[in-house]
Amino acid sequence: MAARLTLHEVTLRFGGVKVLQDVGFTVEPGQIFGLVGPNGAGKTSLFNCISGHYHPNSGSITIDETEVLGNAPSRLARHGLARTFQHPALQLHATVLENVLLGAHTHLPGGPVSWSLRLPYTGRAEKDRREEARALLERNGLGWAADLPADELSHGLHKGIELCRALLMRPRLLLLDEPAAGLSHGEVEQFSDSIKRLREEEDITIVIVEHHMGLIAALTDRVVVLDHGRVLMEGTAAQAQSDPRVIEAYIGKEATDDAA
Ligand SMILES: Nc1ncnc2c1ncn2[C@@H]1O[C@H](COP(=O)(O)OP(=O)(O)O)[C@@H](O)[C@H]1O
Ligand SMILES: [Mg+2]
Repeated sequence: MAARLTLHEVTLRFGGVKVLQDVGFTVEPGQIFGLVGPNGAGKTSLFNCISGHYHPNSGSITIDETEVLGNAPSRLARHGLARTFQHPALQLHATVLENVLLGAHTHLPGGPVSWSLRLPYTGRAEKDRREEARALLERNGLGWAADLPADELSHGLHKGIELCRALLMRPRLLLLDEPAAGLSHGEVEQFSDSIKRLREEEDITIVIVEHHMGLIAALTDRVVVLDHGRVLMEGTAAQAQSDPRVIEAYIGKEATDDAA
């Protein structure tokens, strides 16, 4: 069963800085939901709160009826949550297949806790798992690369590996952080096809952080726009693209970036 994700007044501070302020919205089961906003708006931090990597100061985050705020990432996997990271962390000398089999890592990439290549499945279960991982790679256009070392693949294909790794957990709720950033045109098409097929074939809820507005418009049912840690608006991608507040937030951000 696809999960319902509900956030209510989520606030996160680092020192005196409010990174998220009273963020609230609901993602209905089976929806593909976009989380957009300029760089620094708090999108990744919000994902980190949902996945248990950050602990908000206040608020509520529920998956279906269960309060998950403050849970450890490993516990959230048991609620059917899987995610990808803005900057994938792969074992570059291991094969693509082995990287998928690692399962979703529960620590932030580059964080203090390093994770080692560990295949916890033995015998029959491991064989099934390998076959499932291979099938996932096939379905997502990476079957040809399964036995190559990951470092022989492009950045775009690393993102594909991460997607397969998350899908191997059979999530009910999938969070994707900038899955199309740095992808070639062809790779964006492949990604888009993967998501559309997921929607048709799996009972899954997906939240996507992405700057590629064409992709957000093509894939999502609904979006929330974050700016300076607050919800600026909620609606369809088309409504967001024509909302003067959203345009202003992006233009304001570009002006600041140019000045920096
Ligand atoms: N661990 C942290 N410690 C301090 N500040 C952080 C931390 N994580 C994120 N931030 C701050 O939160 C703000 C939002 O960052 P982020 O969530 O990465 O935005 P986005 O993903 O929308 O670009 C930034 O100002 C960033 O510096
Ligand atoms: Mg980010």
